Amino acid sequence: MPIRLLPPNLVNQIAAGEVVERPASVVKELVENALDAGAKRIDIVLRDGGRALISVIDDGHGMDQAELAMAVERHATSKLPDDDLVHIAQFGFRGEALPAIGAVGRLAITSRARGSAHAWSLSVEGGAKSPIAPAALNQGTRVELRDLFYAVPARLKFLKTARSELNAVGEIVERLAMAHPEVAFSLSDDDRSVLKLHAEASDLMAEPDAARLKRLAAIMGRDFADNAAPVEAGRDGHRVTGFAGLPTLNRATAAQQFLFVNGRPVKDRLLVGAIRGAYQDFLARDRHPMAVLFVDCPPEDVDVNVHPAKSEVRFRDSALVRGLIVGGIRHALEGAGHRASTTVAAATLQGFSAPPPPAWQAGPRSGGYNVSHLAAQAVAAYAPLDAELARPSARMEAPLPEATQLRDYPLGVARAQLHGTYIVAQTADGIVIVDQHAAHERLVYERMKESLAATGIARQALLIPEMVELDQPAAERLVSRADELAELGLVIESFGPATVVVREVPALLGKTDVHGLLRDLADELAEFGAALSLKEKLESICGTMACHGSVRAGRQLNQAEMDALLRQMEATPHSGQCNHGRPTYVELKLADIERLFGRR
Ligand SMILES: Nc1ncnc2c1ncn2[C@@H]1O[C@H](COP(=O)(O)OP(=O)(O)O)[C@@H](O)[C@H]1O
Ligand SMILES: [Mg+2]
Repeated sequence: MPIRLLPPNLVNQIAAGEVVERPASVVKELVENALDAGAKRIDIVLRDGGRALISVIDDGHGMDQAELAMAVERHATSKLPDDDLVHIAQFGFRGEALPAIGAVGRLAITSRARGSAHAWSLSVEGGAKSPIAPAALNQGTRVELRDLFYAVPARLKFLKTARSELNAVGEIVERLAMAHPEVAFSLSDDDRSVLKLHAEASDLMAEPDAARLKRLAAIMGRDFADNAAPVEAGRDGHRVTGFAGLPTLNRATAAQQFLFVNGRPVKDRLLVGAIRGAYQDFLARDRHPMAVLFVDCPPEDVDVNVHPAKSEVRFRDSALVRGLIVGGIRHALEGAGHRASTTVAAATLQGFSAPPPPAWQAGPRSGGYNVSHLAAQAVAAYAPLDAELARPSARMEAPLPEATQLRDYPLGVARAQLHGTYIVAQTADGIVIVDQHAAHERLVYERMKESLAATGIARQALLIPEMVELDQPAAERLVSRADELAELGLVIESFGPATVVVREVPALLGKTDVHGLLRDLADELAEFGAALSLKEKLESICGTMACHGSVRAGRQLNQAEMDALLRQMEATPHSGQCNHGRPTYVELKLADIERLFGRR
């Protein structure tokens, strides 16, 4: 068979294979074009999830007659004025979206350039261009694509239901909208409004981040906006900004992490890994934080031309970017201090409120809580407690300080210890319930990290060295790491094949269960393998030690001890959650409690 150049329409269909996968990818290209054109309002209208119609209308600078004629030609772009692939400042540069889209559906474009007397329109069907004709349009550009994939029916089979195509479109639009709070967006499908985002005024006098945060709240929900710490880090022309969710606001997947590089939404493994690294200290492995991060750097330091849909990027100095993200997030979370997410209290209150009645009982409900159900729950909950309440295990102590003084203590003044596990404190406008073990564990852990970084961990010699019997492999694992453990404050020696002598322990731990600690550490070493140094696994090791050095649940604390714990929590960063992202305390505002009792 002879070698030949493929006809242009076939070339465009092949390009469409990479760029136009489904309605969402068409919307992405068209909305990016609208943003590149400086639009301040972008309206997206779909029919049948985008299969029958995708229409994107913008109020950007538009195209004149000659530009419109060029726009649908392959490799025609206005965005590389100096043939410079290095300094890419806009979304587009490949010049292939419009011709590719025109090769797989019926494309019609109407556009009016700023200052023009009227608009022009043009259509492309099966790759064939219609003549350009005058048309009516106020300002900007309207691109319509009908019958997506009619020209390549094989691809129709890969489309999902209208609903899931619509969802994918919604996600793309939200992603682009996050980076452009100054632009209004709307999305509708079959005349049903799906998304409406009004432009957030970027008041330069006000907080510069305010518009951005408002837009994020509109998309990700109030919970995120209320429970995120601003991120701000920069070095060598690179900047990372955005918002990091508090660890207690975590999710089962990473779907609520959004990353932008120079305004472009990306899904990049390096960046996702950096977020994971930043939170590894605060979250269990299977939980994921919410975060929105904007990485900005000189265009020459990042290559966006590594993926046809431009969703991956390559940084020249990826270590620098990773470092900025990890450092920026950690700093932000430190600034959040002992704050735990307000969603914790909300979830708690939901636990109090009644579940919806079973279907057979469903009738009109008079809003608010189902009182009879709640009462039944309360009776059931208190019945087994009666016996305990008769014993004075709930201890009321110390007169309460003045309200003004209470205001100085965000976590309040301890009023009681319940079930030997929970400290109940009164705050200026609510109550706080602290899980004493979780909280103390976090405090010890933070102090270990701090002292290790500052001066090395202080050790305390045991008066009588303790012999710990283990199995032989466990003992060998520990002894082979004896030098590293000593640096972390734990001095051990071999004593026969399966026994280890413990001579010194980290002073911070106080009186600790040495046997349990060694057993857990031996298990952990087995998991790490030989290659990693303990310093690299420091956080995990410190976590294990902290757990053994903390106040156990079940230990009675006196007033001074309880208050000391509360004051330490207030002063310690990250003390709002334990090492697994669970909250260490819950705060209920009086207003919430009053609502529970129908007082509001
Ligand atoms: N909504 C729009 N408003 C103004 N000009 C547009 C719009 N959409 C496309 N264009 C013009 O058409 C050209 C081709 O668009 P496209 O095929 O998406 O390639 P690219 O965006 O990579 O340049 C753009 O460079 C731009 O000049
Ligand atoms: Mg484009």
